[in-house]
Order: sequence, then C-alpha cells, then structure tokens
Amino acid sequence: MGEQQNPFRTGGIARGHRFADREREVARIGQGLREAGGKLLVYGPRRMGKTSAIARALDLEQARGGTVARADLSTLSSLADMADVVLREVTRAVAAGKGFDDFLAEILKRVNIGFSVKQDASTGVPIPQVDVSMRSKPLEEQKLAVGEVFDAIDGMAAEHGIVIGLVLDEFQEIHRFEENFSEWNLRHIIEQHENVGYVLAGSKRSLIDRMLEADGAFYRMFDKLTVGPIAEDYLVPWMEERLAPLGDGAGEASERIVALAGERTHDRMRLARHTWFRAQQAGRSGRGAVDHAFAGLVEEDADEFLRQWVHLTVPQQNVLRAVSMKVKGLSTADTLQRFALKNSPTAVQAAQVLVERELLFQRPGEKGYFFDNPYFEAWVRERTAIDLGMEPPE
Ligand SMILES: Nc1ncnc2c1ncn2[C@@H]1O[C@H](COP(=O)(O)OP(=O)(O)OP(=O)(O)O)[C@@H](O)[C@H]1O
Ligand SMILES: [Mg+2]
Repeated sequence: MGEQQNPFRTGGIARGHRFADREREVARIGQGLREAGGKLLVYGPRRMGKTSAIARALDLEQARGGTVARADLSTLSSLADMADVVLREVTRAVAAGKGFDDFLAEILKRVNIGFSVKQDASTGVPIPQVDVSMRSKPLEEQKLAVGEVFDAIDGMAAEHGIVIGLVLDEFQEIHRFEENFSEWNLRHIIEQHENVGYVLAGSKRSLIDRMLEADGAFYRMFDKLTVGPIAEDYLVPWMEERLAPLGDGAGEASERIVALAGERTHDRMRLARHTWFRAQQAGRSGRGAVDHAFAGLVEEDADEFLRQWVHLTVPQQNVLRAVSMKVKGLSTADTLQRFALKNSPTAVQAAQVLVERELLFQRPGEKGYFFDNPYFEAWVRERTAIDLGMEPPE
C-alpha cells in the first residue's frame, strides 16, 4: 500500500474530508454571522470542536461572498492587543470579501488610534497594526481604542449596506482585565451595533453561565448554542470508513476509540490518528491497534502528567485516584477510608479545586466527577492506583 495521508487530524482546525458532522452547529453559526445585529454565544467544553465548527461556518460564508472574520482572543495580554487583532482580522475579511475596497482609508478616518500598515506576507493585503506604544498607555485610553475599533466596524458596515460577521473566539479572556474591562464593557459597546453579526465563543462554563444569568451582562442579549460531543452513531461509521483501507477490524477499532477516548472530539481524533499510524505499519486496525495507540499516547504525555501530579496536594491526589478507579461516591465511608481522605468536606473541597483547575469536571444534573483528560485518567490509574494494592476497573 502506498503512502496515504492520515485522515485524522489534531492540532489546528479540522477541514474538508477531515471534518466530521456539526451540520446543525455550522448552520446556526452561519446564521449568526449573517444576521444584522445578531448576537450568538457558542459554548462548549475545551477540545470539543468549537473553533473547527466556527471555521467551517466562516469558510462557507466567505464562499457565499460574506464578510466574516474570527479574532482569537486567547493570547491577549492587553486591551490594545484586542483592538489590534480585531482590526487586523476584519481588514483581512474585507479584503477577501466583496464588501468594499478602501477599508484602510476608511478606518483611518474613523479611529484616533496610532497604527502602522504592513503588507500581509501571503496575500499582499495592507494590514493595520496598532502601535505597540498603545499597550503601555493608561487602561482608559486602551478601552476607548477597543470601543472605537468596534464602532468603526459597525459604522462602515452600515455605510456600505453590508453585514460583517465577527467571531470573538475565547472571548472570556477579557476577564484578565477585570475591573478595567469586563463583559459589561463589551456589552455596552456591541449592544448598539445593528450591522455586525457577533458570535462569541468560549469554554469556561461557570463564567459563561454567570454572564447569561438574570443579573449577568449578557442576559437576554445573546442566543446560546452548545457544542457537545459528536453523536457516536455518526462518529463510529465515520471513523470506520477512514480506517477501512488499512485492513480488517476497522469497525471494532472505531468503537474502541470512542469507548476509550471520552467525549472530547480532540481526544477521539488523536487516538484515531495514532491508531491509523499503527494500522498502517501493521496492516490491521482492530481493537488491539487502538489499545496500543492509547497506551502510546499515555506514555507520550507521561512527563507532563507527572509535572502536574507533583504540584497537587495529597487530598487532591487521592481524589484523582478515587475518580480514576470509578468509585460510586466520593464521600462514602468506604471511599474515604480506601483513599485516605480525612473526611467528606476534605474530599469535596479537593474535588472542587480540581474542577476549577479543569482537571475534573461535573455533568449538570449528574452526581460524581469525571476526568477532563482520558489519557491523564489512565496514567493516574496505572501509575498511582497500584500504590493502593487495587485492581484497576475494566
Ligand atoms: N468536526 C470535527 N471533525 C474532525 N475533527 C475535529 C472536529 N472538531 C474538532 N476536531 C479536532 O479536535 C481538535 C480541537 O478542536 P477545536 O480546536 O475546534 O476545539 P475547541 O472546542 O475550539 O477547543 P479549545 O477549547 O481548545 O479552543 C481539532 O484540532 C481537531 O483535531
Ligand atoms: Mg477553540
């Protein structure tokens, strides 16, 4: 068999043949981008596939001639950075779309911020760059700059009779500037805009729920779309089709991948990708190939897991042990005793910290705790539960 491209991808954004499902989500996001004055909040746990679904919707809208942009706010360190990334991405979008030509000249007229212009390396499009000096200006000034940029985008869309679709990905990072800039400021800026379709995406459930509550900033302002796991009866055949060319047992392998890798799309695709590499070497893609691939991935991350582990308190470590052994209840006398947890408040408090740190999560309406990362769970079970002289669960 000749060299074939691995049909599963991790890292970056899944596109084309490597993109699975999400028809409903993509359609809803597209609607949000096209809707003048639209406000949609996309929520989903980490690594579930929000950005990939958003990217798909953006590609489709762009192909239809829409002016749509995504600003990734995950790496912001200042409000000036926010003004910069939004301005830059919208400029790109305008250049790629059929909106209007002299965006740069127009934006220059509308904002008072100092910026320079750089040629985009791949497209040659002139891209504005907010002066770096802005990053150390007083926060009030930076806040005004952010407002000016958003207002300018809305104003230009109005003038040209178009809707600009704007995604703010990982928008919850504005929390870093709390007191100086919060979701209330963002609300205040964007609530008046009737020519932009805003799509905000984030992965901190507690934060987002709070914003949508009755006294939260986004109460009644946003529609909400949840990005959950891809349905198993869609995903198993989808993976099987892609594993089939490598040999027998593709169906069995696909089921095993979904059973081992938990619910997050990234974790599932990662296991599928490694299974595919193994199957390509061995010419067999059955359950055994998946189990080997899984063990290999646990091993690959073992150093990082150990680094995390040594920073945890003893009760936190013991809670992780207990959860990895799938105990019925964390606070039962039996669990407390088996895992050397002093008492129930100790256990619950440790578990809550682990939830805040996103090592564990809880399911709404369900009791118990679950590992965020299935590979970490396996590592804890294999490497540390042994100390307790217990058999790991099947
Ligand atoms: N629909 C999909 N089809 C195939 N692979 C996908 C899909 N969605 C996500 N993935 C895979 O999962 C990985 C993570 O997806 P993505 O970055 O879209 O998730 P996210 O929810 O935005 O995560 P984060 O919270 O880390 O930003 C991608 O790199 C890709 O490998
Ligand atoms: Mg993302």
